[in-house]
Amino acid sequence: MTRKLFVTTALPYANAAFHIGHMMEYIQADIWVRFQRMQSEGNGLREVHFVGADDTHGTPIMIAAEKEGITPQEFVAKIAAGRAQYLDGFHIAFDNWYSTDSPENVELSQGIYRKLRDAGLIQTKTVDRFYDPVKGMFLADRNIKGECPKCHAKDQYGDNCEVCGAAYQPTELVNPFSVFTNATPILKPSEQYFFKLSDPRCFEFLRDWLNTPGRLQPEMVNKVSEWLGEAGEKLADWDISRDAPYFGIPIPDAPGKFFYVWLDAPVGYLASLKNYCEKQGMDFNALLNDPATEQIHFIGKDIVSFHLLFWPAMLKFADHPVIEKLKVNVHGHLTVNNEKMSKSRGTGISPLRYLNLGMNPEWLRYYIAFKLNSKVEDLDFTGDDFVARVNSDLIGKFVNIASRCAGFIAKKFDGKLASELSPSAQDWIKRALLSAEGKERQASIAHNFENREFGKALREIMEIADAANQYVDENKPWVLAKDAEKTAELHEVCTTALILFRQLAILLSPVLPGVAANVRKFLKDERMVWADTEVASGAVYKTMLGRTIGAYEHLMTRVDAKMIEDLFDAPAQQAAAAPAAAEAAAAATGIEELAPEIKIDDFAKIDLRVAKIVNCEHVEGSDKLLRLTLDVGEGRHRNVFSGIKAAYKPEDLIGKLTVMVANLAPRKMKFGISEGMVLAASAADEKANPGLYILNPWPGAEPGMRIG
Ligand code: MSP
Ligand code: ZN
Repeated sequence: MTRKLFVTTALPYANAAFHIGHMMEYIQADIWVRFQRMQSEGNGLREVHFVGADDTHGTPIMIAAEKEGITPQEFVAKIAAGRAQYLDGFHIAFDNWYSTDSPENVELSQGIYRKLRDAGLIQTKTVDRFYDPVKGMFLADRNIKGECPKCHAKDQYGDNCEVCGAAYQPTELVNPFSVFTNATPILKPSEQYFFKLSDPRCFEFLRDWLNTPGRLQPEMVNKVSEWLGEAGEKLADWDISRDAPYFGIPIPDAPGKFFYVWLDAPVGYLASLKNYCEKQGMDFNALLNDPATEQIHFIGKDIVSFHLLFWPAMLKFADHPVIEKLKVNVHGHLTVNNEKMSKSRGTGISPLRYLNLGMNPEWLRYYIAFKLNSKVEDLDFTGDDFVARVNSDLIGKFVNIASRCAGFIAKKFDGKLASELSPSAQDWIKRALLSAEGKERQASIAHNFENREFGKALREIMEIADAANQYVDENKPWVLAKDAEKTAELHEVCTTALILFRQLAILLSPVLPGVAANVRKFLKDERMVWADTEVASGAVYKTMLGRTIGAYEHLMTRVDAKMIEDLFDAPAQQAAAAPAAAEAAAAATGIEELAPEIKIDDFAKIDLRVAKIVNCEHVEGSDKLLRLTLDVGEGRHRNVFSGIKAAYKPEDLIGKLTVMVANLAPRKMKFGISEGMVLAASAADEKANPGLYILNPWPGAEPGMRIG
């Protein structure tokens, strides 16, 4: 039977550009999708539809658009236009990219809502909500700020405190104010629409749904079971309405009310699929009703409640056919140097900067895949680890095989592979491709790809690469080539090595689609499909023997450790989706756009101190950094790296005073820990004006004095 796979990734908020965490999710899903597609080539065992969309509704997007003086529609269109460079750049092969702000989504969301209402699961309640009397609108949690009721940190949002992490209701804030007008909000009754998750039907359904084998990861079953409680007593009704003005989908028969963004966001999966079906001339309803269809969501651990409580309950009680087909794969988060990313901006690495530096997207795909498993575990990107993993596996093990053997085939045999293999060569192939128990490694690799154990799959692939390299090392083609009598042997050794190389390229192709395509060109392969990796049937070499191959061109370069340094440099310049209006103003004056306005409290958080440069030296292996030893009067010295090598000689700085950020969290860099930051001025257009100017206090200032 053909498995029909409808695969999605979480729909990213359209208020910012992608960060590296998004790319991790797309890479995971894309590898799985590519693996499934390969399974199917030539046999029709899979039909895969991989769709995504922007999640466009809600308050943050409204605010962002207002700030720029454009409509929310214009704002999200701008964000959408920026998506392709990331997706194409990292070989993410969505079949369709759509938007929750679409006619399909309006129709589908309202349809689901109507059915929930008919099922008696929608209830209205009048609740007191904060209202801005000056602006004349109800305020979302994020539109209200005030003092944290727990730790009394100032300037915290209405839903949780970024200082102590406490979660609370906006009404609990001390001295609340509207972020729009600074007015003190008043409480105003408002009729709200609730989805009755507390209804016993929801509990009964969710309990069974959750425990259907194969649907969820075991740790997710446990987590959601906890949320359900013994008898659903922990399930609270869910407020699905927001008052106008709101950028969202109108609630039918409820003037001035809109769906809360999380009601229509997951429906966006179906909207994108529907839109895709229309474009392809496929029958959307038939696909959803087909028993062979599976709906598979890849999501991060932070949005589990929406996907494992609300979404299945919505589908179930709207009597939607895909509820039977729903599987959710939850992944942990990517951290960079063990630092968490902020929700919208990310940290550390900008995906575009990565690409613009000329770094190979397949390095990142491989590195992430190598660290991924099927569990909900975080994974960390560390520069040194990345360089070591990519260089050792992809260059040292994989590419190396071809680069050591291809030349001889071209030079000595007119590009033609040997037409037969001796039993000993066949034996080597078996030893490389079968496990100690004689089982096909490709089968266990396929099993691991299927089950999202990518790290395990790649480890086993690298074991094959090790065996192939051992074969080359032992048979030494470069020695055989010097002996005219060993020509036949040389031919066989290079042929065998290239057969193993092709096998590796096929097995790696879900992770390295670009490299695989180039290998295919080089080997003049008509197809590269999983079925051709079988050893037992001889499929691995049948079509290779006697084949004339093309010229070998370099497949992949090593990662240069310097690139990593550039990647982490100057995080402040990685502004995500700079507001268009501000961008235009900055372009007119030539200065960098101003950062968003802050309060004096925000400024007070930054502790600037006068620092004495007691020592300064070059950093070996870095053409950007100087290592500064700074005295800020603490009775100890600080080690700080600064990217000012192009502008200053170390000896000119020693003994001078400057200004540093003294309370910045220490940052692990490639060359050591940096315990603060030295301030320097630079022009917006670094190309036109590459100068860097560090600050120097007027005479009389002493190390340790606070600046403010
Ligand atoms: N708009 C919602 C999802 C709606 S789905 C119907 C949303 N958007 S998001 O842009 O904040 O996140 C999109 C996806 O990126 C989520 O699955 C989230 O878990 C994932 N990631 C966000 N940060 C991440 C990492 N640091 N690492 C890996 N994935 C990360 O939530
Ligand atoms: Zn707090």
